[in-house]
Amino acid sequence: MNQSSKFINPKFFYDQKGSKLFEKICDLPEYYPTRTEISILKRLKDELPPYLNDSFRLVELGSGSSVKTRLILDVLNQIQEKIEYFPIDISEILTESSSELQQEYDDLFITGIIDSYEGGLEFLKNYDDTKNLIVFLGSSFGNFTPVNGKEFLKKINSTMKDGDLFLIGLDLVKSKTILEDAYNDSQGVTAQFNLNVLSRLNDELDSNFNLNNFSHYALYNEHDQRIEMYLKSLEDQSVVISKSNLSIMLKKNELIHTEHSHKFKISQIKDLMHDTGFKIETIWLDENSYFALTLLSKNIKIK
Ligand code: AVJ
Repeated sequence: MNQSSKFINPKFFYDQKGSKLFEKICDLPEYYPTRTEISILKRLKDELPPYLNDSFRLVELGSGSSVKTRLILDVLNQIQEKIEYFPIDISEILTESSSELQQEYDDLFITGIIDSYEGGLEFLKNYDDTKNLIVFLGSSFGNFTPVNGKEFLKKINSTMKDGDLFLIGLDLVKSKTILEDAYNDSQGVTAQFNLNVLSRLNDELDSNFNLNNFSHYALYNEHDQRIEMYLKSLEDQSVVISKSNLSIMLKKNELIHTEHSHKFKISQIKDLMHDTGFKIETIWLDENSYFALTLLSKNIKIK
């Protein structure tokens, strides 16, 4: 493992410390996605009910931020008597956030599914006849490669019943400066978040990364429409990852790739959803067109 390119899957960002840092990112002045998506979600109180012709169960991919979940629960709460909420998440954070929600809503029935999104959706597929409103917020979809993203959408589509709805939040293409600032904040929280993955490897895999020998590096790749995040090695160094029996050499300025965060154009969202078997019910945008919430149903005419 020397000159080959080095890559750490972004899912490893979210240990306890990383999740805390991500929450801090969401409040940063430069990080517009969270507050922009929330501003759109606030409009759903009036704008989603026309699409809900029946009662729906809320199924959330990723247990999400409690603020966003509440905004959707509030929509359902005004039009139906009881709400079932199925958060699907690989982490146990589920239990903590669920008990708070439980106290706030009288007729809320929560079933946390600790599994991969695919596993959780598969479980849901033949569960019962209740219509599902599946939500996948925060532009987490942006972490997928285009190929894997398409596969994932097809998977969601294949687990949906006629009448189910899918709401997905996607970050949109915009100026390079705005995008790069969002991932290079002036307080350095994103840098801490990125570097934290090395502390996690040190703790959990018994490695000896010296965090002082790495720096945060994020840029917008216009051609591939994505933010690319890396950890840059500041000197020639070698690191041992004991539990994996690995010893790696890093050259000065060599990059470890930690995240891709894809940005979308509205026309691309339309094509992507059409190609994966969805019918677009509506696309909600904020006033600056920074972020999109797309409501989809299964297009039974396709395939
Ligand atoms: C959680 C994947 C949507 O890509 O904007 C934020 C993660 N990384 N700052 C994003 C992230 C650096 C975030 N997602």
